[in-house]
Amino acid sequence: MKEFRIAIYPGDGIGVEVTDHTVRLLREIEKSCDDFRLKMDTFPWGADYYFEHGSMVPENYLEILKEFDAIFLGAIGDPERIPDHLTLAPLIGIRQSFDQYACVRPAKLFKGVNTPLANREAGNIDMVVIRENSEGEYIDNGGRFKKGKPDEFAVQTGLHTRKGIERILRFGFERARKSRNHLTLITKSNALKYSYVLWDEIFEEIKPQYADVETAKFHIDASVMNFVRWPDRFDVVVASNLFGDILTDLSGCLVGGLGLAPSANINPERDFPSMFEPVHGSAPDIAGQGIANPTAAFLSAAMMLDWLDLTQPANLIRTSIESTLEAGESTADLGGSLTSTEYTDRVLSRLEVSA
Ligand code: NAD
Ligand code: IPM
Ligand code: MN
Repeated sequence: MKEFRIAIYPGDGIGVEVTDHTVRLLREIEKSCDDFRLKMDTFPWGADYYFEHGSMVPENYLEILKEFDAIFLGAIGDPERIPDHLTLAPLIGIRQSFDQYACVRPAKLFKGVNTPLANREAGNIDMVVIRENSEGEYIDNGGRFKKGKPDEFAVQTGLHTRKGIERILRFGFERARKSRNHLTLITKSNALKYSYVLWDEIFEEIKPQYADVETAKFHIDASVMNFVRWPDRFDVVVASNLFGDILTDLSGCLVGGLGLAPSANINPERDFPSMFEPVHGSAPDIAGQGIANPTAAFLSAAMMLDWLDLTQPANLIRTSIESTLEAGESTADLGGSLTSTEYTDRVLSRLEVSA
């Protein structure tokens, strides 16, 4: 019997709601497979913790999380009460401190789900954005000067290293080999003449080593246009930290919305735990109503099981979700009328059938 230790970090708003449903799903799947156990420890870090303790997380949060095989995170953010850059610091801290440099964000249009694009159906959109997750625009480097004065200014510097660019490109190429052998690189090297020119150069250097993979290259502005007009042309897409962030709200939206968009923050060397979380945030506009779509969280949990080499239960989650959606059973964001709990019940009932 294999046992895995999972840190559960629900966060705020619908992060807590979708995490509750995910834990329920994982408990059920554990029951139907008798070769593994998940030891889940929950950490109630978020806005309420902040008001009680004066910090978003305990000082030793990374030490605590380091002991786990994987981390599952719901979503963080309570923008009415705490500025986002304070709330979200631990999330970025985990990604960077645990060198989770490959952020994997698939976007696949399922049967039974409407895309906002005309004349597209399941099978037309099946891409994965590989977002550089350890450096770029997200590093903590900058400052605010002359605060409150008329000539106040802020400096924020991106950092793009040869090592960081090369490893994410190689990760993307390897992923393309397991997919449809196509990789698109997204930069902005026409205007950002240092950082993204380095990206372009390293891409050209290593491309011949993956001659079996067909490639394409666009600037970020053209990419958002092409995601909308030619989503079928994208397979594996590699982008920097900020561009990958922006692109994956769009890719999620193209396949039915953020309620369906999963993500994995991977440390490929397995020196540290990897973290699995939906792309979406805490959605204050619908929090507390019991209507959040937990699918993105479920699919993120399936990616976590894949990472732990529990492929069969991961596939079981995916097929149960796909048949539920195909049957037109969905939450309000997809035009359905089910609550999160009712939708989870439908997914769970299909697990039993397939197990
Ligand atoms: P959001 O992703 O929370 O919501 C965007 C829109 O999508 C909203 O209309 C919301 O209702 C809808 N939506 C998102 N997830 C949904 C789901 N599962 N089911 C149904 N509808 C869903 O983005 P936002 O409103 O810009 O941000 C809210 C807060 O979350 C902010 O504090 C932000 O900083 C934070 N945030 C956190 C994360 C994270 O923790 N990983 C990610 C993104 C945003
Ligand atoms: C995401 C989120 C985060 C990011 C925010 C909340 C810091 O938008 O995971 O996509 O920008 O990475
Ligand atoms: Mn985002």
